Amino acid sequence: MRDRSLQLLDWYDVHARSMPWRVPPAERKAGALPDPYGVWLSEVMLQQTTVAAVRDYWRKFMGIWPTVADLAAAEDADVMAAWAGLGYYARARNLLKCARAVVADHGGVFPSDRATLLTLPGIGPYTASAVAAIAFDAPETVLDGNVERVMARLYDVHTPLPAAKPELMALAEALTPRERPGDYAQAVMDLGATICTPKSPACGICPWRDGCAGRIAGTATGLPRKTPK
Ligand code: ADE
Repeated sequence: MRDRSLQLLDWYDVHARSMPWRVPPAERKAGALPDPYGVWLSEVMLQQTTVAAVRDYWRKFMGIWPTVADLAAAEDADVMAAWAGLGYYARARNLLKCARAVVADHGGVFPSDRATLLTLPGIGPYTASAVAAIAFDAPETVLDGNVERVMARLYDVHTPLPAAKPELMALAEALTPRERPGDYAQAVMDLGATICTPKSPACGICPWRDGCAGRIAGTATGLPRKTPK
């Protein structure tokens, strides 16, 4: 539904969270896109780590290694030391492998399509879609925990996770607009992080409140359901 996604873009134009790797819509020249290297670095760091914790690490990495070629040429030990504190060290090892593959196999230029991004070390379905959408404005759909929750509520999906994933992905894909898909991807994540929060969603100020099936049915706060472990 086109109108719905445009409503969210209007909201994002005003409420986008400030992050060092983002250029806010209001400050961006028409058609200007962020540096794919910076976007990729932020998305790898954001796997399993909060935005608050990632900010300073991202600035530090961009300061020491401002381009993918700089990172590819780094000593392994220096990168592991700079990563210390972020946890999940396999991410740091894959980060280096990926930077070196971008330099060795792609001339130091990040591929812009999801399929090629998926061939790179450490880039799975979520990261490939996020980089293609955010850095290249490709019409790809990202599905992280925030987006799953927003979709489950918006469409009142009662199927528990993880079985609900394909259904939630299909709903999220159907909503992804052809215009500004990169901003849209980040807008859904911001909505989930700031308004459609797990325990007490702020439905009263949500740009999607009028059409939200979960809010109307009174089920939103209990969604998404989860299969007990
Ligand atoms: N979580 C992971 N990547 C994000 C992004 N680009 N914007 C907001 N939340 C995120």
